[in-house]
Amino acid sequence: MTLRNDFLWGGAISANQAEGAYLEDGKGLSSFDVLPMNDRRLKEVILDQSNILNEENQHYPSRTGINFYHTYKEDIQLLAEMGLNSFRFSISWSRIFPNGDDVEPNEAGLAFYENILKELKKHQMEPVVTISHFDVPMHLVEAYGGWHNRQLVDLYTRYAEILMTRYEEYVRYWIPFNEMNMIMHIPFIGAGLTFLSDENRLEKKYQAAHHQLLANARTIEIGKKINPDFQFGCMMAAGKTYAYTCDPEDVFAALESDKHNLFFSDIQVRGAYPTYIDYYFKEQNIHVEMKEQDSAILQENTVDFVSFSYYSSACTAASVEGLEKNAMNGSDTVKNPYLPESGSVWQVDPRGLRITMNQLADRYQKPLFIVENGLGTQDVLEESGEINDDYRIEYMDGHIRNMIEAVEQDGIDLIGYLPWGCIDLVSVSEGRISKRYGMIYVDADDYGQGTMKRSKKKSFSWYRDVIQSNGENLFN
Ligand code: BG6
Repeated sequence: MTLRNDFLWGGAISANQAEGAYLEDGKGLSSFDVLPMNDRRLKEVILDQSNILNEENQHYPSRTGINFYHTYKEDIQLLAEMGLNSFRFSISWSRIFPNGDDVEPNEAGLAFYENILKELKKHQMEPVVTISHFDVPMHLVEAYGGWHNRQLVDLYTRYAEILMTRYEEYVRYWIPFNEMNMIMHIPFIGAGLTFLSDENRLEKKYQAAHHQLLANARTIEIGKKINPDFQFGCMMAAGKTYAYTCDPEDVFAALESDKHNLFFSDIQVRGAYPTYIDYYFKEQNIHVEMKEQDSAILQENTVDFVSFSYYSSACTAASVEGLEKNAMNGSDTVKNPYLPESGSVWQVDPRGLRITMNQLADRYQKPLFIVENGLGTQDVLEESGEINDDYRIEYMDGHIRNMIEAVEQDGIDLIGYLPWGCIDLVSVSEGRISKRYGMIYVDADDYGQGTMKRSKKKSFSWYRDVIQSNGENLFN
């Protein structure tokens, strides 16, 4: 098996990290717009302790982003020049429904995304649309309590239905939610959840997850009626958890960690709550309220493909005490002593991508789709105007090789590869643009100051050559 002829080589961004223009043309405030650039942004928001949202004298990076709202035409042109035949972007819910519960959608918002889709069509780029990427209208957070409130299922599906109806002729690939498993680690970002200090936070997170799972299934149900050719994907932050040693207790800890991470996609793919969660819910005193019809909705509306982000593998042990820790996407992990020091904040593990792909393919037996992967690090704009990001080329080279080996040698069906932040954007974890992922450099500092001029990094032409040869040049 080789890469599909119609393999999607692309890139990915999200609205809240790129668009800026946070109140323009009728857009309402979104949850991301009130998240300051400080080291508390990933913490749980405990309202009666320290509410970090919308504080005075803070910088709110999503309000400026990289100004994609105004530059999308030129940006898409550049992405097409890089050879991309696909582009994943997200729609900002509060651009379509400024408050989330408005009677009518905002036509200016709908027109904006339609224009993006027209541009993509012009360049023959296949759109992959994320309906909600860490983005809840702030009114739904404040007046409804975010995804903890079941009413969001109806509000979201109405929003999704409007998008799917309006963009039917342009879009085939839909991802209703970005990284649903992030609710457990970054619940404000993942589901607009805030807490009081005496609440059962775990229960609240799983209740919110249940609502997102229902909304996901209802979206598939409605979408397939609009157009049976629509393809829907679950999306999770993936990365196989390794055992720190081959002690069966460590291996078991790794197994448990993977189960908790894959709980959400288990439901989205298989259509039912896995039995392993029953004991855990009982043990943790978690009662998720469900209605009688919920299990049928989940059962009848499963996803067509399994999309995921992969930045690194994880590692754990039965007892993590005394073991060195390392940051990873959304949480901490035990530092893997076998992975080389790379200077990157998250450990780099290209082989882990192939391992993770095998894990997901074995578990789900569905086509896979890599919709995020990349190296977030600082770049240097040299006086000559060049950005020599050989470290990014090395990172992508290693991951793409493993991806191709997984297809050719392990027989995995893969729809495409969409590296994250193909153009620099604001990082979620740090809120800074200086944690750069792009093959296109954006001249802006962490406060959104700068010319916003776009420049091609060294990785730009490297990636273009990889795409042109359908990955073959990596092996010559
Ligand atoms: C993924 C998110 O979790 O990781 C992206 O879907 C995010 O939105 C990406 O940007 C990289 O993380 P970070 O924290 O470096 O931006």
